[in-house]
Amino acid sequence: MAVFDIDAYLARTGALDVSGIAWADVPKHPVSAETIRTLRYMQDIESHTIVYLRSLLATRAIDDPDVARFLACWVYEESFHGLALERFLAAAGHPVGPRASPHGQEKPSQWLEARATALLSRMWPEFCAVHMTWGAINELTTLTGYRRLAALAGHPVLSELLERITRDESRHFFFYYRQAERRLSRPAVARVARLLVDRFWAPVGSGVQPKRELRFMASYLFSGARGRAAARKADDTIRRLPGFATVGLLESWLDRFADGGCNGDRSD
Ligand SMILES: [Fe+2]
Ligand SMILES: [Fe+2]
Repeated sequence: MAVFDIDAYLARTGALDVSGIAWADVPKHPVSAETIRTLRYMQDIESHTIVYLRSLLATRAIDDPDVARFLACWVYEESFHGLALERFLAAAGHPVGPRASPHGQEKPSQWLEARATALLSRMWPEFCAVHMTWGAINELTTLTGYRRLAALAGHPVLSELLERITRDESRHFFFYYRQAERRLSRPAVARVARLLVDRFWAPVGSGVQPKRELRFMASYLFSGARGRAAARKADDTIRRLPGFATVGLLESWLDRFADGGCNGDRSD
């Protein structure tokens, strides 16, 4: 894997290019109920990025100039992913209505998680290693999810849109992964980071969307031989990070929480 060129990234960062996307053609192709449900989940999580940023700004992440510059551009790009998915859903006849609770209105569990993250960052100077590892895992699982959705949906306009979004997600992943790789090269740091990932990692959107929606989406995207293979490939990439050779991520999460089909009707 090449070196991440932060200056090149900053120079080319920008709003998602949706020029030439054939929005008028969206209703000309069938969109399954599963695709709509998955897109709703993804749109909501993309729109939630600014709340994650709020939590991160209370940590040491902003003390590192490269990380601070990256985060400013990262949140900007993520915001346009949410808008693009919202536009697709509207074009497909499923407009995104107002959220039951505003993104900025945190649940007590989210508030507590943000405070715990800030406290850990204050107590542990190497906190950024966990943040970068977490980011790498989440960007990689997100872009893997988008690729699976494009393959399952078989909708030409959606495929083009998701292809453009995954190009952004790939760059995000690359930044986080390179940062994580460097910071985890110290075994003591890697040990703590691994402990925290083992204990607390769950797919993006956990705690933001209802569990039944998370289970539905995960089962829909990652069930079957191809879905499992995609999950394993993502996990294998993270296993190449120092100290993470035996980590169980998406596949073990699927085994524990999302196995057994994609009807999404299980209770929380
Ligand atoms: Fe995104
Ligand atoms: Fe991203």
